[in-house]
Parts: sequence; C-alpha cells; structure tokens
Amino acid sequence: MSQNSAPRSQYGSLANVYDAFLTLTGFKRGVENFLERVDFSFSKGSKVLDAGAGTGLVALYLAKRFPDIEIYASDIDRRMLREMALLTQEEGIDNVRLFQNDLNTPEILDDFYTKQAFNVPPDFFDAVITSGALEHVPVEVVIPRLASLLRPGGMFLNLGVRRNPAGAVLAMVYKFKPHSLDEIRRICRDSGLSDIRTLRLTADDFPANLSRVAVIARKNVSR
Ligand SMILES: C[S@@+](CC[C@H](N)C(=O)[O-])C[C@H]1O[C@@H](n2cnc3c(N)ncnc32)[C@H](O)[C@@H]1O
Repeated sequence: MSQNSAPRSQYGSLANVYDAFLTLTGFKRGVENFLERVDFSFSKGSKVLDAGAGTGLVALYLAKRFPDIEIYASDIDRRMLREMALLTQEEGIDNVRLFQNDLNTPEILDDFYTKQAFNVPPDFFDAVITSGALEHVPVEVVIPRLASLLRPGGMFLNLGVRRNPAGAVLAMVYKFKPHSLDEIRRICRDSGLSDIRTLRLTADDFPANLSRVAVIARKNVSR
C-alpha cells in the first residue's frame, strides 16, 4: 500500500506532538492514576489488546506496570504507530507488539514492521482495552467483534469519552460521536459480556475525569 493510500485518522498529523500534549496537559498522568486503581488480575503471559492505541497511552503504561504480559497495540494510522514505536524504544519497553488495524475488523492485525497479517483466533485475548477509540466506529458492530476475541472470563475495558460539554468539544474538534453509557452497557450485554460496571474517574484523575468515563465487563464463562 502506498503511503498516500494508507489509512489515516484525524490524529495522525499531530502524531509527533500527541504524547507530549497528553503529558503537558496532565491528561496522561490523570489516566494513569485512574488505571492504577483498576484490578487487572493479569498473570505471566497474559495477552492484552489495546485497540486504537494511538501513541500508546494505555499500552505503554500497562507494559511498564506488567512487564511479563504481552501487549498487542493497534491503530489505523501508521503515523501514530511510528510514534509509539519510538516511545517503546526510548523507554526500553519490549513487551508491546505494534499492529496496523481498522477497528471495524479488529481480528485482522497487520504487523507494523513486517506488514504480515495475523488473524486473531476467537477467545485469544485475556483483556481487550479501548481508550477514546470506540467513538470513531459503530459500536454495535465493533463491540461484539472485540468480545469474540476475548477468552471466557476475560476483561473488556472501555475508557470512553463522556457525553458532556467537555466531550462535545472534543467530538467537534476530532469529528467523532461520544456514545451514551446506556448504549455501551447494552451492547456489552448483548455481546456476551456480564458483570458490567461503570467506573467514574475522580478529581484525583484530573483533567481526565472531565472527559472520560470507564465501563468494565467480563466475558461470560458459559453462554
Ligand atoms: C483519541 S485517540 C486515542 C488514542 C489512545 N487510545 C489514547 O487513549 O490516547 C483515537 C485513536 O483512534 C485511532 N482510530 C480512529 N479510527 C480508527 C479505526 N477505525 N480503527 C483503529 N483506530 C482508529 C486514531 O488513529 C487515534 O490514534
């Protein structure tokens, strides 16, 4: 695929300043502070997908907190992935694999370096995480597909954009659609996920609490 026809997102032109922007605004620290409170219960070798990973806000945090898990970080835009590759090198992180992927078909991961396709088998991941990415895709299609990639008992975590004035501003700038919590929770239920909980970010997570809210669920063990 030529560079011109490569899939791009509205974030790619900011890729080289994206991580610095998240850091300088305190957003990165806020999200990491929230993630510290999440009980991930990973074990050695757990496989985690961060879909729509951008420059690796969540993926690189998890890689450092859990050095013996394997993280699959995907994004549609190679410019975002390139930045994530640089950050993993700078930070000496070796447990993140990078893939180009369109979230609409989350089971087809193209290796960022070799461009070889990896077709993810059902029930493959121990956790699937999306952060600010589901807003760009039809959730009624994508959440069931993501759920099918989770092993029974595996965790789904969406750190989504809130439907409030802060979320509305971001939605205008980046041209996306914040989903309602009810919609996300209903689609999770219909996708074979249960134990669905909404986790509010707190003032300690400022400024991420202004624009983000999390939904956590587990894949049913028997359907
Ligand atoms: C708001 S950024 C979030 C990035 C990262 N998860 C974070 O929390 O910082 C949204 C990301 O979704 C990616 N994206 C947009 N549409 C996508 C799609 N159809 N498939 C995969 N990634 C997509 C963009 O390239 C961008 O990196």
